[in-house]
Amino acid sequence: MRKSSLLLILVALGVVVALVLSCGTGDEPKTNANSGASGSITPTWNNFAQGFFQNYCLRCHSSSVTGAARNGAPDGVNFDTYSDVVAESANIRNEVSTAGMPPTPPMPTTTEDQTLVAWIDAGMPEK
Ligand code: HEC
Repeated sequence: MRKSSLLLILVALGVVVALVLSCGTGDEPKTNANSGASGSITPTWNNFAQGFFQNYCLRCHSSSVTGAARNGAPDGVNFDTYSDVVAESANIRNEVSTAGMPPTPPMPTTTEDQTLVAWIDAGMPEK
């Protein structure tokens, strides 16, 4: 009888420890390299937007990509720099909020699209 109560207590302790440990890992943000903007961190150019354009847009919309390699992206519609993006932000917001761009994979996740729109709506903080 006593032995089994002790066993029960040990099992209960084990469950508590397991729960505490799993809570710890459950808090990890489900992110990839460029989504440092999840949770309560304010998205900025430096911590989010620059990586977003690099990952999803620059293979067509870069001043260093010319001719056929642009896949039809209009000449001059480039997102290499912060000021390039600010200048095009209304059109970018329109495309990203409707998942109109990019036209082909790799595609941003819905969360990444929403974070980019939130960044634009917050006035595009740089840092
Ligand atoms: C595979 C090449 C490719 C990628 C990657 C790409 N685009 Fe485009 N983009 C195009 C083409 C082609 C056009 C012109 C045709 C059109 O507007 O649909 C265009 C046009 C645009 C325009 C101009 C639309 C207008 O209002 O005149 C914007 C803004 C734009 N893209 C934003 C983006 C953004 C933001 C990304 C990344 C999330 C992106 N594009 C990724 C090919 C691409």
